[in-house]
Amino acid sequence: MKSGKCIVARLSFILIIIALVIGATLPSRSDTFHNAPGSVLGQGNPYTGQRNAEIGHKLYEQRCASCHGQDAQGMGNVPALASGATQTARPGEIFWFITHGDAANGMPSWASLPEQQRWQIVTYLKFLRNPSGLLLTAATGMDTPGNGKLDAPAPTPPFTDFRFEKPGTFRKITVQDLPAPFATKPVGNGPRIVPRPGNVWPQAPEGFKVELYTTGLDNPRLIRTAPNGDFFVAESRLGRIMIFRGITSDGQPEITSIFASGLDRPFGIAFYPKGPHPRWVYVGDTNAVLRFPYRNGDLRARGPAQHLADLPSGRGHWTRDVRFSPNGKKMFVAVGSGSNVDDPDTHPAEKDRADILEFNPDGSQMRIYAYGIRNPVGLAINPQTGQLWCSVNERDMLGDNLVPDYITHVQPGGFYGWPWWYMGGRQDPRLEGKHPELKDKVITPDVLLQPHNASLEMTFYEGRQFPREYDGDIFASEHGSWNRSTRAGYEVIRVPLHHTGHASGEYEDFLTGFVLPDGNVWGRPVGVTVAHDGSLLVTDDASNSIWRITYAGK
Ligand code: HEC
Repeated sequence: MKSGKCIVARLSFILIIIALVIGATLPSRSDTFHNAPGSVLGQGNPYTGQRNAEIGHKLYEQRCASCHGQDAQGMGNVPALASGATQTARPGEIFWFITHGDAANGMPSWASLPEQQRWQIVTYLKFLRNPSGLLLTAATGMDTPGNGKLDAPAPTPPFTDFRFEKPGTFRKITVQDLPAPFATKPVGNGPRIVPRPGNVWPQAPEGFKVELYTTGLDNPRLIRTAPNGDFFVAESRLGRIMIFRGITSDGQPEITSIFASGLDRPFGIAFYPKGPHPRWVYVGDTNAVLRFPYRNGDLRARGPAQHLADLPSGRGHWTRDVRFSPNGKKMFVAVGSGSNVDDPDTHPAEKDRADILEFNPDGSQMRIYAYGIRNPVGLAINPQTGQLWCSVNERDMLGDNLVPDYITHVQPGGFYGWPWWYMGGRQDPRLEGKHPELKDKVITPDVLLQPHNASLEMTFYEGRQFPREYDGDIFASEHGSWNRSTRAGYEVIRVPLHHTGHASGEYEDFLTGFVLPDGNVWGRPVGVTVAHDGSLLVTDDASNSIWRITYAGK
């Protein structure tokens, strides 16, 4: 018995050493999906289209759902396939990985499935682009127009698409402009991600300069500037928070550090209390609010996470931004819906979702601050009015120009429509006749954006570098559409407030050029923050970079 234990201990020691040696010699991050050979990158999927996706769906349910979840949302340590790496990987890479598997990590090889079936599963996985759109997909017979309609006629203003986005262009969408539901057919048109061609660069208005601050990140998402000027960045997929410090003379970070790891899809980051000397860094994991002890200058959390509050989670929209009220007495947490348009009356999983929740800073006394906000991704406090604002992803599957995403100040107790209604007191046709008493309660948001834009983080410009007319304006990242026949979004926008603290409904294209003329996408803005020197930093989870925009003058 004794010697048996000893051998086991020795064996595991040797195994650990071997693992460490192998780990140390592997590149820290590979350029292909699960180290697929480069030869598979250009491999096209011979079995595309709706029919193959439906067959793939059945195969998926038989072979894969047990581990990856019914909606491919992932479970425990089994990764999601409806989002994350699989959605940015190329078809050939996914096919290769399914074929080989990764036995050591629990993913079987599916080489025994006929080749055609493996490709059909790949087709299905690529249909899953949006966690909510998916199961509706099979039911509605969506088109999959490859890279979208590139030769479609120019859209009728105020609607637009990537072909007409240009820095300096102002736009304004009102409820009168909205088409009827299903005026056009819903489409599945997620981005095809390609490397940035060497001669392509993001475009900003005249007088601004765009530089690459850093690249080689793993899916950088939210970015926030600490009181000491450090940049905190959520690498949500890896479960960690990074710090980037300083700007060298050639525009690079001076120091890069891992602040915290082992988190569950962290997104929101907030420093508390307000002011120059915070004592905590709050983090919004997908299922909880945590906080780490912190002093200015720390490059690593100085202690373990404190768990403050559980958050509703599960399938669907997973980001959880966190902000504090100006007096520091309340904490706001944005929790998106679990689905596209499931009725909470009949879907208990939607309880306390599609809401902005309010807590005490210690995580106690949760209540609903505002509701019916389908997926509020970015939160910000307006420095001039002290009001909470948010940036929201509205519904899919009603056609190209419904429902507009939006940016708005949030009224306490306010109802923003989801899922029964939307702006202008219009009923969602999928929930006809439900909750007539709420019709007149639906608040029309301040700024309507292009439908399906995927509006993510937002921030108010409090820097001193840009021209005076930018003071107090909003910048927001538009990650880009999947449910639109010609892509929209894939840009950073500015919402001018004209020094009033209030929006007039208009917005401006600010940073564009992330989609190539052939419809392929190389960049997708996610996070946006203002640096202490007044420059604007934008994370991009397609090219895995952070861009820095400075004002150079005319
Ligand atoms: C027995 C459980 C199990 C089954 C069944 C299973 N997988 Fe997996 N799969 C895993 C695990 C565990 C991983 C993570 C492996 C790793 O970390 O390398 C994974 C990883 C993956 C990945 C990579 C995802 C990423 O983000 O890195 C893909 C793609 C994938 N599986 C597809 C499939 C498909 C398609 C099927 C069905 C044909 C399937 N899996 C069936 C357990 C399973």
